[in-house]
Formats: sequence, C-alpha cells, structure tokens
Amino acid sequence: MTEPPDGVLASYYRCRREGGFIDTFYEVFLSKSPAVAAKFEQTDFKIQKLMLRQSLLEMLCFDRGLAGTSEEIARLAARHRELEISEEMYGMWLDSLCTAVERHDPEYCAELEQLWRRAMLKSIAEMVAAST
Ligand code: HEM
Repeated sequence: MTEPPDGVLASYYRCRREGGFIDTFYEVFLSKSPAVAAKFEQTDFKIQKLMLRQSLLEMLCFDRGLAGTSEEIARLAARHRELEISEEMYGMWLDSLCTAVERHDPEYCAELEQLWRRAMLKSIAEMVAAST
C-alpha cells in the first residue's frame, strides 16, 4: 500500500537527482532574514549540507515512527535549543525547503508541497517544543 510519505520520499530522491537541491535550500533560507544568515556566520557549509541531507531522511523516518529516530530528533532539538532558534525561523526553514522542492522536483505540485509540509511537521513540532 502506498501511503502519502512514500510520495515525499520519491520526491526527495527526484530533487537530489540532478544536484543543487540542498544548495538551493540554503541559498533561499539564508536570504529570508539577516537574523537567519547571522546564525550561520561561522558555518562550514560543506559539512552542514551533508548533515542536512541526512537529517531530512531522519525526519521522514521519524514521521513514520521508525524505531531509533526519536533519539536523533531529540539530539537535533537539543542542539537547536542551544543555538537559540526561534519558532519563526522554523517557519522560514519549511518555506525554504518547499521552494527548493518546487525548483528541483519536476513533478512538484501544490498537493505534493502539502505532503512535504505534513511530513516535516512532526519533527519541527518537537524542535520548537524543545526550544520553548
Ligand atoms: C527542522 C529544521 C532543521 C533541521 C532538520 C536542521 C538540521 C541541522 C543539522 C543536521 C545541523 C547539524 C547539527 C549537529 O551539529 O549535529 C544543524 C545545525 C545548525 N542549524 Fe539547523 N536545522 C533545522 C532548523 C534550523 C533553523 C530554523 C535554523 C535557524 C537559523 C538553524 C540553524 C542552524 C545552525 C546555526 C546550526 C549550526 C551550524 C554550525 O555548526 O555552524 N537550523 N541544523
């Protein structure tokens, strides 16, 4: 049986097919606000992009309740609490991700974007809850 998250996973791999997906994400995200860009002033983006690629998959697994993934999301949440990331920034993060999907998935449509948003929401809610 095909459940909605499979659509998101397939979209993720289509986005990655030609490269540049994560680059687009950070380009869009950093341009959202000077406050976001300031958080990444000391960041080594080569490493950061690899870690984001990995964490997107972890978020999809967490959404599906796969064993072991909640610890990873909790670790990520604790790290972002230390970084003092606001709830508003998480909104910008999700919007930027959807823009990157729109640019890189040839099968992008509004319904698919809603699936992406829904799939990311559980992890984002954990991260926001940990920082308040
Ligand atoms: C749910 C959304 C997010 C995910 C999946 C995510 C993912 C990650 C990952 C995997 C790391 C590396 C953590 C580690 O050290 O192991 C990281 C670091 C970081 N994230 Fe996020 N992040 C998210 C949201 C945000 C938001 C909204 C901001 C706001 C500006 C942000 C700013 C940062 C910064 C500043 C670092 C540290 C970079 C450095 O080491 O220089 N993140 N993030």
